Order: sequence, then structure tokens, then C-alpha cells
Amino acid sequence: MILAPSILACDLGHLADQIAAVERGGAGVVHVDVMDGRFVPNISLGPAVVEACRRATRLPVDVHLMIESAERYLDAFVDAGASSVSVHVEALPHVQRALDHLRQRGARAGVALNPSTPIAALEEILPETDFVLVMSVNPGFAGQKLLPPSLDKMRRLREAIRARGLSTRVQVDGGVHAGNIRSIVEAGAEIVVVGAAAFAGGDPEAAVRGLIEAARGGR
Ligand code: DX5
Ligand code: ZN
Repeated sequence: MILAPSILACDLGHLADQIAAVERGGAGVVHVDVMDGRFVPNISLGPAVVEACRRATRLPVDVHLMIESAERYLDAFVDAGASSVSVHVEALPHVQRALDHLRQRGARAGVALNPSTPIAALEEILPETDFVLVMSVNPGFAGQKLLPPSLDKMRRLREAIRARGLSTRVQVDGGVHAGNIRSIVEAGAEIVVVGAAAFAGGDPEAAVRGLIEAARGGR
């Protein structure tokens, strides 16, 4: 299990310190939520912030694009230092082309699914997908409650990946905290995004340590 703190929930005035803290706590990836105020109601971060993350850490920087016309911005995010990029199937007509482009640019390519989007939407592109991001909240804001059907969706996705003999990884995003992370990992999530649970308490290093321990069944 890799923990991926979402800097959307951090104290952006101290971005580098916040990233250093989660890194000390054992985080394996830095997750950056990009929102355009169109695909989702909120507006958040862009390539300049990805670049700042890139400078602040040697951890992989994972960019979650919650934007329309994502294809137009793939190069900007890869150039800014993204190690992996996910695009929403609901926001992009040519997902295959985007995945192909990301991989050609040396980035890991992911597809994100809103809670109401079925796994079947991936039928044709699963083999070309490095990871699938299962949204466990409707994207737009940190600090929401996890939607329980997401757990079964992750299980079914894992099974579909296994049945097809693929190495696609499952990422989960939204509403994860120390009290539910164990069940999420048991449901098949390998990369777990955490926003509020990592940063809202004011001690991200300890919070990340606690989340990793809880994921292992330590509490
Ligand atoms: C939701 C974002 C998430 C969010 C997670 O739109 O994609 O990455 O920041 O935050 P929490 O863990 O607080 O739900
Ligand atoms: Zn996200």
C-alpha cells in the first residue's frame, strides 16, 4: 500500500514543509488535485504548483486532472514534473489517445472514475492503463465522506484486472481516514489518497504514520 497525501488539503503557505513532513511520515507519492471550475465546481492547483512539488521532494508527483479538455494540458503537467497523470473518462472523449501520449512522454497513465461511472467504461482501455483511480467521493473538495459502494467497486475492479492478467494498479481517492483505511486496502486499493486525514489535524507527519499503521491493521 502506498499512501499519497493530497496537497489540496495542506497549508499551501508552507507547501515544501508540509511535503517534507508527509515524506518523513512514510508517504510514497504526492497527489496534486487539479480542478477547473467546470468539470468540478471548485478551482484549485495548476502546473506551477506541480513544479513546486517537484522541487520540494524526490517522491513521485501524481497529478489528478479534474478538468475538461485535459488533452490540452498533458504536456504542461509532464513538463512540470508529474510522474503520473490521471484523466477522468467522463471529461474526455479520446481517453486512449491521452493515455498513449502520457506513456510516450514517460509518465504513468491513469484513468479516474466518478462514483456513478461503472467499471465497464474501462472495458476497451484497461490494458493501456497503468492505474485506475476509483473516486470514493464526488470530486471537487477535500474533507467529504467516503461513499460506501466504492469498496465493492474496488473489489470488482481488482477482480477484473486479475481475470485479464493485467498489472494495472488500483488507486482510491476521497474520504479515507484511519478508521476506514484498513477496509479500503482489503478491498484492493494499492495507492491510497488522503487529504484531510493527513493534513487537517496540524501534524501531517504523525497523521501519515498513523494512517500507514492503521492500513496494516495496527489500530
Ligand atoms: C477530491 C480530490 C481528493 C481530495 C481528497 O475531489 O480528488 O484528492 O483532495 O481529500 P479527502 O481525503 O479529504 O477526501
Ligand atoms: Zn484527487
